[in-house]
Formats: sequence, C-alpha cells, structure tokens
Amino acid sequence: MTTNRTFTMIKPDAVEGKHTGAILDIIIKAGFRIVAMKLLHISSEKAGAFYEVHKERPFYKDLVKYMSSGPVVAAILEKENAVEDFRKLIGATDPAKAAPGTIRALFAKSIEANAVHGSDSNENAKIEGDFYFSMLERV
Ligand code: CMP
Repeated sequence: MTTNRTFTMIKPDAVEGKHTGAILDIIIKAGFRIVAMKLLHISSEKAGAFYEVHKERPFYKDLVKYMSSGPVVAAILEKENAVEDFRKLIGATDPAKAAPGTIRALFAKSIEANAVHGSDSNENAKIEGDFYFSMLERV
C-alpha cells in the first residue's frame, strides 16, 4: 500500500440536504487528510466536461443537469490506498446496493443523486483533481 490521493465531490443533493458536515466528518474520521477543498456551483458545460467519459450513456444529459443544479463541495483527499478505501467508504453507485453504514447508504437519494463522487483509479484521481484545483490550492 502506498500513500496516494483521490478526488471527491459532495453532490448537489447532499449539500442541499445539509449533509456536508456529516459527510466530511465521516471522511476525516476514516483517516483521509483534506489536501484541497472548495464549494462551487459548476456550469453545465463544466459538468459535461467532467463526466465526458459517460457521454454516450443514456443518463448523461440528466447527470449534467443534476450536477449543475446547485453547489458541490470538491476535495482532494490523501491516505494510504486512498482510491480503493474511499470507494469502500462511499459504497456502491446505486444506494439500494450500497453496504450499510457507507456514505451512499446513509445519504444518497437515488442512483443519480448519490450524495458523493469518488475517483475509480489513481489515474482518474489525478485528472479529476487537476480539473478542479490549481497547484496553489493544494497543501
Ligand atoms: P459517479 O460515481 O459520480 O459517476 C457517474 C455518475 O453517473 C454516478 O456517480 C451517478 O451520479 C450517475 N449514474 C451512474 N449510473 C447511473 C444510472 N444508471 N442512472 C442515472 N445516473 C447514473
């Protein structure tokens, strides 16, 4: 195991539902160090670019609309085995399939409004972190 980084967003449904503090508390207590963090309301163009990999999927248009519907909290997190451990902490994409106690099981509303995003590989963690943060915004 090596110390590495992952990227997360607390999504509009969870920010709107006042779950930001509870979710950050779970993340910090699970041993992740916050390297960078900000709250921002992304445009549909930026949301579309972020999720470009899903462009051909039937849910892409709705996903872009949803992700630009309200503020998100974006963060870069550091921990040993960060990508894999964070995906365990958040649970399956579909909250109905997420393990009990995971962030999505606790806070997600649906497969689309699923409370949080977590990178699926070290490579994507770097791409996604670079999408949102400059070098000056990281500690
Ligand atoms: P995320 O982990 O951020 O990655 C892609 C997002 O697309 C996912 O979380 C959900 O918000 C959304 N998504 C994935 N699968 C579906 C689906 N079948 N229907 C609607 N939205 C989905």
